[in-house]
Amino acid sequence: MKQLFLIFYRIFIVQLNALKLIIHIIKSHFFQKSDNDLIRSEMRHIAHRLEKTLENKEEPNSISTHEKNYNRLKFLLDKWDDISPNKIPRDLIWCKKIYNEFTKHRETGWYCALLDKVEKKQRGIKEIYEHNETNSQVAEIDLYQLMLGRRSVREWKKDKISDAQIELIVKAGLSAPNSCNRQTNKFIILKDESKIQKIASTVKGGRKFFYKAPYLIIVINDIRRYQFPDEIHTPFQDAAAAIQNMLLMIYRMGLGACWGSYTSNTSLILKEKKVKKILNIPSHYFITGIVAFGKPNMRVCFIPRADISDSIYFEKFE
Ligand SMILES: Cc1cc2nc3c(=O)[nH]c(=O)nc-3n(C[C@H](O)[C@H](O)[C@H](O)COP(=O)(O)O)c2cc1C
Repeated sequence: MKQLFLIFYRIFIVQLNALKLIIHIIKSHFFQKSDNDLIRSEMRHIAHRLEKTLENKEEPNSISTHEKNYNRLKFLLDKWDDISPNKIPRDLIWCKKIYNEFTKHRETGWYCALLDKVEKKQRGIKEIYEHNETNSQVAEIDLYQLMLGRRSVREWKKDKISDAQIELIVKAGLSAPNSCNRQTNKFIILKDESKIQKIASTVKGGRKFFYKAPYLIIVINDIRRYQFPDEIHTPFQDAAAAIQNMLLMIYRMGLGACWGSYTSNTSLILKEKKVKKILNIPSHYFITGIVAFGKPNMRVCFIPRADISDSIYFEKFE
């Protein structure tokens, strides 16, 4: 009976959230004045999609499907034309560079013009090897450099990764903060190509690169350990903390990974029941995330993050 109630409650919450979102979109579309923050976020989102297309060497035809995005970005970038160059925020300079790369791509094929200029400076991997026990400030800066250097990678070589490396990646996940120290994260590693293909066919969005992944990690959490309804989001938060730790470790090992939107009770997993059957996951587990990883077979440019001055507030949001 309790289980049945929980199922209905979850369906209700999902529907309610969907309704809230629709109301919010309608309201913001018709009643709110567009603000710069929102527009810049849209620009970063479009540039991200164009960048992903550029990364996808094997599918030049997908370029044409992004015409709409490309034109929209041009339209939004044009609005910044009157502003003096030193006042243009860094994230928009990046959008502009992606836009320019996309434009040039039509003639020259895939490349990453940003890479040569910034890669060495931003990666910071060398500094990490230079162990320094006494100067904690240096260590902090190294960690930040590592964080800055990590980027999503969506093309891989077939090279094998040792079990010792995989274990270290999972240990990084296990060391993450988690709610009430319950430590419910479990990690299913897939190496078998046919299984990876089956799972990739159930990843909504970003599907193509998941097919190419030599390794997948699927994170699952036992929902009996959470007190629903208050903790409906907690398993996903536990998984997210672990995933970020794993991404950093993967990057630190010179490997590359991409996180996928893949969560139970959403349409982000196509055929969840089938997935659970393939992976032998009991019904009382949520699938809380997926990571594709392996040896990178692509170059990744540094991506400027939002300016600190646009993102930090003291005492109240402004
Ligand atoms: C919760 C979450 C879900 C994501 N899902 C996808 C996905 O389904 N497909 C994809 O290509 N990238 C996905 N990403 C990766 C983001 O697109 C990427 O982190 C973002 O564009 C910033 O780029 P970076 O990771 O290279 O710094 C996801 C990231 C997060 C945190």
